[in-house]
Amino acid sequence: MNTSTSPNSSRNVSRPASLGGVLSVPGDKSISHRSLILNAIAQGDALVQGLSGGEDVISTMHCLQAMGVSIEPAGAPGSYIVKGQGPELEEPSNILDAGNSGTSMRLLSGILAAQSFVSVITGDGSLRERPMRRIVEPLKQMGAQIMGRQNDSLAPLVVRGGDLRGIEYDLPMASAQVKSAIMLAGLSATGETIIHQPALSRDHTERMVSAMGGKTEENGLDLVVHPGTLSAVDIVVPGDISSAAFWIVAALCHRDARILIRGVGMNPSRTGIMDVLQEMGAGSSLQLIDQRTEGGEPVADILVTSAELHGVEIGGDLIPRLLDEVPILAVAACFAGGDTVIRDAAELRVKESDRIATTVEQLTRLGASIKATDDGMVIHGRGTGGTGKLGGTDTESHGDHRLAMSMAVAGLLSDGETTIHGAADASVSYPEFWQDLDLLLEDVW
Ligand code: S3P
Repeated sequence: MNTSTSPNSSRNVSRPASLGGVLSVPGDKSISHRSLILNAIAQGDALVQGLSGGEDVISTMHCLQAMGVSIEPAGAPGSYIVKGQGPELEEPSNILDAGNSGTSMRLLSGILAAQSFVSVITGDGSLRERPMRRIVEPLKQMGAQIMGRQNDSLAPLVVRGGDLRGIEYDLPMASAQVKSAIMLAGLSATGETIIHQPALSRDHTERMVSAMGGKTEENGLDLVVHPGTLSAVDIVVPGDISSAAFWIVAALCHRDARILIRGVGMNPSRTGIMDVLQEMGAGSSLQLIDQRTEGGEPVADILVTSAELHGVEIGGDLIPRLLDEVPILAVAACFAGGDTVIRDAAELRVKESDRIATTVEQLTRLGASIKATDDGMVIHGRGTGGTGKLGGTDTESHGDHRLAMSMAVAGLLSDGETTIHGAADASVSYPEFWQDLDLLLEDVW
């Protein structure tokens, strides 16, 4: 009743009387990329189950296939057999296309830096404007030759790799993508690679490399990678907490909601959103059920119901643990009582869009009281319960999947009708987003 689609990829959303149902979200995007990349350079075959069907992960798959890696469907949706090629891949005969995916470009650059052939990797308009010096610099120090636009800082990147040596490197920002690129190159370098991190970022690469027999040591914020070959491992990819976050916020902020999300990854380097929502007062409205470990990653079902949230201050080491969730947290803050302050999140300015600017701009259109700061935002919340203090209007995704989905959730909580232009952008990480939204509108258990 509350959504409609138009062919130019816009969707209309309004607030339903109730919101509910049981669903699964796509496989974790970060783990999906790594399950393909690490198994591709391992020895042996691996069965990957629950792989994200999002466009970003498909970009990684196509790049690896272009380098001779066999990745074939294995029956059930999201199941694939990856045939490991070992550390040496085949020279691609054409330019590699990472699409919209920073993870594909940065992690694959770590692989390309170890190959003796020449490769070119590019992406869409958004990705070609995102900073690449952060990977180019350390990979050059390791011995790779890399060129890019604007003094080697922007894609397309041209890489001639091989003969890498380990380095000791101070990461300038808490980035899992940069850390992973260096780690992947370090596996093929001579000598050890030491990485000093300013704060912990997601650790899926570390976990998977260890599970594959690679030697890494973690000591607080310091990480050592030893060269060596990996053995393929089967992986069951858990649901993506970054996708679950949309439904969690929708349910908490709607006045009559009850949603069960099955099989969500609960890696502590990713659960900052859960901690913040608890601090905002979610309490027993946000419950973890059946906590378990699957494939070396903690997993749980999440039961979420309506709550009364209040504003909080978010910053420091918490930010890397919830970086991708800031746009949807800003939506939650609009429906919370009191003020929310988000700081230390300047990295948001170099995501798929400038997420500080775009989130503030779009929520302002809906009538929110929200201001951008250099490294975050300040939100004056209008109160809880989904009582419709924001008014529906036209919103724009700016080509950013997380913005499109955040505005959809804002529309589920606002008065009137909210139109999301660029609705199809959700497919970058969550191709079934709009079907799942329709399912929740039916409120069937
Ligand atoms: C990711 C790391 C994060 C995150 C991105 C996925 C990864 O980026 O924003 O969506 O899979 O390593 P940074 O590491 O650049 O902060």
